[in-house]
Amino acid sequence: HTLLTGPTLLFEANPLQTPWQAAARIDTDGAVLIAQGRILDVGSAPTLLKKHPQAQVTRYGADRLICPGFVDAHVHYPQTAIIASWGKRLIDWLNSYTFPEEMRLSDPAYAQTIAERYLDLTLAHGTTTVASYCTIHPHSVDALFTAAQHRKQRIVAGKTCMDRNAPDGLRDTAQSAYDDSKTLIERWHGRGRATYAITPRFTPTSTADQLAALGALWAEHPECLMQTHLSEQTDEIAWVRELHPEARDYLDTYEAHGLLGERAVFGHVIHMEPREIDRLKETGASVVHCPTSNTFIGSGLFDMARMTAAGIKVGLATDTGGGSSFSMLRTMAAAYEIGQLRGTPLHAAQLIWLATAGSAQSLHLGAQVGTLAAGYEADICVLNLASTPAIAQRSEQATDMWESLFATIMMGDDRAIADVWVSGQRVR
Ligand code: GUN
Ligand code: ZN
Repeated sequence: HTLLTGPTLLFEANPLQTPWQAAARIDTDGAVLIAQGRILDVGSAPTLLKKHPQAQVTRYGADRLICPGFVDAHVHYPQTAIIASWGKRLIDWLNSYTFPEEMRLSDPAYAQTIAERYLDLTLAHGTTTVASYCTIHPHSVDALFTAAQHRKQRIVAGKTCMDRNAPDGLRDTAQSAYDDSKTLIERWHGRGRATYAITPRFTPTSTADQLAALGALWAEHPECLMQTHLSEQTDEIAWVRELHPEARDYLDTYEAHGLLGERAVFGHVIHMEPREIDRLKETGASVVHCPTSNTFIGSGLFDMARMTAAGIKVGLATDTGGGSSFSMLRTMAAAYEIGQLRGTPLHAAQLIWLATAGSAQSLHLGAQVGTLAAGYEADICVLNLASTPAIAQRSEQATDMWESLFATIMMGDDRAIADVWVSGQRVR
């Protein structure tokens, strides 16, 4: 047995739906008991130390916070090497930077290099689970699942499908997208800690035939997730309207092809019609907020209050490399800033819930990861709440740990990641 002692972050409920004071708690003298990759017990340090005298103890001090590992609910690992590319909005950004780089992953060796680099970078930022788009190449999916398997990480991924409005060499067909995705589901879904997500990139790059083929595949494999993009930029929405004059709205282009349901996960979801919000609510689909991406590519301001009022599940994500950071701390800070611009600031407890349990729930992994509680998988991120002189001097003024956590959220980066545990083992 392994026993971690120190301040622990605990969730009793969703702090966006119930008052955060009742939903989240920091136990300043807490402990987490781990065995065989799982959390066996969570409680007070004195109690668990007495109950488990044989356990191997790692003690974290008063300026540390033992948190669930971060869950990044929407990323593009193939865009790792083009993060922070200057000056374009969505469609030009895709054509100028993204598609040429995704083309480079046609080389399986390069795909493997990027997959490993990406998981190492994100682990260094405290992120233990991601939901990633891959490229159209099936080997890009194998590369990421294999790299995650070697690191014993829980992961969600899928082959990105595109059969129109993408360059030569970066298009599949309706049939090959169906066949390749089906083979990958059979190879990876449910193997170890892997979840497969059927992944049409977005309506502009999938014909109606391809959307329908993937809708049929999802009906045959309803245990899989389905991830795509929805209503990120106004130009994109106008293009979808041109391509699909028959559709009631953007969401309808997915719904009409069997791509709307409880296990659907839509990224961005910024410029929304009332009918679309109602349908997301009725079907129980998830949405993912990607704040650094939304400001970096100039997409708009996600409306968190509207989503939570509708009871829609919300996850948080970097959207690497449209997003400008690998850090979920930086991502929480950006979510705070967008909340401020909308007049609805999020509390530290709400921000860190979104980055852990909220993202996990949006991916239907809310019973496996994202929470420190008995039975959960032991993926843990230990924060240093005094990682830089600037943060440390602010923390000294703090009257409670929420206040110092907030300073780390707003100003922290990978230097604030003290330790990371994956499947019960310390990995850095
Ligand atoms: N919409 C379609 N593809 C992408 C992508 O790769 N990144 C972002 N941010 N939006 C998209
Ligand atoms: Zn994306």
